[in-house]
Amino acid sequence: MQILHDYPLKSLNTFGIEAYAKEYVQVGDVSELKQILEFNRNKKKFILGGGSNMLLTKNIDALVININLKGIEVVDETTESVIIKCGAGETWHQLVMHCINLGFGGLENLSLIPGNVGTAPIQNIGAYGVELKDVFEKCQTIHTKTGELREFTKGECKFGYRESVFKNELKGEYIITHVFLKLSKHGFHRLHTEYGAIRSKLEEFGKSPSIETISEAVIAIRKEKLPDPKEIGNSGSFFKNPVVSSEQYKKLLEKFPEIPSYPISDSEVKVPAGWLIEKAGFKGKTFGNYGVHKNQALVLVNYGGASGKEIFRLAKIIQATIMRIFGISITPEVNVI
Ligand code: EPU
Repeated sequence: MQILHDYPLKSLNTFGIEAYAKEYVQVGDVSELKQILEFNRNKKKFILGGGSNMLLTKNIDALVININLKGIEVVDETTESVIIKCGAGETWHQLVMHCINLGFGGLENLSLIPGNVGTAPIQNIGAYGVELKDVFEKCQTIHTKTGELREFTKGECKFGYRESVFKNELKGEYIITHVFLKLSKHGFHRLHTEYGAIRSKLEEFGKSPSIETISEAVIAIRKEKLPDPKEIGNSGSFFKNPVVSSEQYKKLLEKFPEIPSYPISDSEVKVPAGWLIEKAGFKGKTFGNYGVHKNQALVLVNYGGASGKEIFRLAKIIQATIMRIFGISITPEVNVI
């Protein structure tokens, strides 16, 4: 466990932005992490997981701690379900595949989401009708300053749409070391095929829904729409889908009768930011070596060599344009550093 200086972060962020950490260390277990925190109590720290949900606009002037805690194990079991404990440093998609191979259900709709297990609760990852909170049991954490070990129940995590307590009131306070998920066993799976694209993909494949086929469908849909970070730098959806009042939505409908929406409550609807950005003319636009993805306007991309500042400037232009055209404020989903 060695602290390295001026460490390059380009391969550690899926946007592929060139930036450096003032100091960098990788930790492989909780006792190493405790030691690092204790010996570097007064330093500024930055916790790095899979680097899949951040845009680096500058070098990180801190001790970057890369969480590499591994291990997946079943810790409890009934006839219907299992509880699995997973190290924060496991790759999310590898965990999904591992669980499907063991016949455990619940994660199939969340196939191919980039990033690590430990970052999944921070933004309550979600896709195709399922969110992490639907399978989340609890997580173990360590306090960055005191080294105190603390468990958070699902309720304490205060999950919302791409939100949790770790992104808000407890931001930067706790490091997630392990995540516990409750998954279904064979015969007790609850499959989510309400998302139209999944149903059509299964039809196209001529397959009936199962945890394996839903995962296959989700992987196929994601591959069609979302760029692979190994090929084109990106952080998935750059913006969150905005929520507007029903009144504002009614007014928008008069001007844009084809505007899609998902009801949230009696008084609010969610509008897909991807649609707004496409309508504003940004889909597939490139500016030098960065731009807006051609198949999904919510995704900003780095074709190689773009700086975080350039991409952030584009994000601001998009936000201002959406505000001007639709009167809607869209906010980043990724953490801009
Ligand atoms: N749309 C467009 N143009 C676009 C993109 C989308 O018109 O360029 C329209 C689609 O036609 C559709 C609607 O927007 O009517 C929704 O599109 P889609 O189903 O692709 O989902 P999304 O709202 O764009 C969200 C998540 C994704 C997740 C998908 C599937 C957010 C911010 N994004 O995208 O999550 O994979 O739903 O569930 O909630 C991520 O968080 O990184 C991510 C990729």
